[in-house]
Amino acid sequence: MIKIATSILSSKNRKECIEKLNKTDTDYIHIDVMDNIFVPNYQLPIEEVNELGKNSKKPLDVHLMVENPESFIKNIAINNIKSITIHLEINKNINNLIELIKKYNYQVGIAIKPNTDINKIDKYINLIDKVIIMSVEPGFGGQTFIDSSVDKIKSIRSKRKNIIIEVDGGINNETIKKISNDADIAVVGSYIINNNDYQEAINSLKN
Ligand code: DX5
Ligand code: ZN
Repeated sequence: MIKIATSILSSKNRKECIEKLNKTDTDYIHIDVMDNIFVPNYQLPIEEVNELGKNSKKPLDVHLMVENPESFIKNIAINNIKSITIHLEINKNINNLIELIKKYNYQVGIAIKPNTDINKIDKYINLIDKVIIMSVEPGFGGQTFIDSSVDKIKSIRSKRKNIIIEVDGGINNETIKKISNDADIAVVGSYIINNNDYQEAINSLKN
């Protein structure tokens, strides 16, 4: 069954949101970090990530939409991080960043924006644990799912069978049906956060 990573990006009170999510069966809590350079939005300075992360009883799935992830990776200090994902499009040495994330024993993910040629992942595919297919333009929650993301799941799978495939953006109880047979993890933000009953929203995604 597809796993759910709940994104707290659109929540108005993130601490309270994490406390509520601790009581659900979300598989992960997804933390979006933005630097206002790689994407036109600024969210969650490192201090806030470290503070919030301590409250989570769920493994954290950290998504770095930042041009320079190195200092972030070095300064993150939470003990329940499952994975750290960087973007394929940044102008940095990706191999070095993969090694750095591995040094801390986190799973390594690479995220791909909707208009990036997915074959650019080929040279890293055997070095990483996970690919995040962005099904919206990164930067904001609450956008519409881009349908052409669906075919990308099979093409990543054909490159490497046992890679973890996560899809991020615009997922709700309808759009999840397009990916639930083939993807491993769905990142869901506003659909869960805007529902008073988080668990009920999660149930409707898993059915
Ligand atoms: C977009 C973020 C997503 C987003 C998902 O840049 O990476 O994680 O918050 O939120 P929804 O589900 O609202 O698209
Ligand atoms: Zn994300």
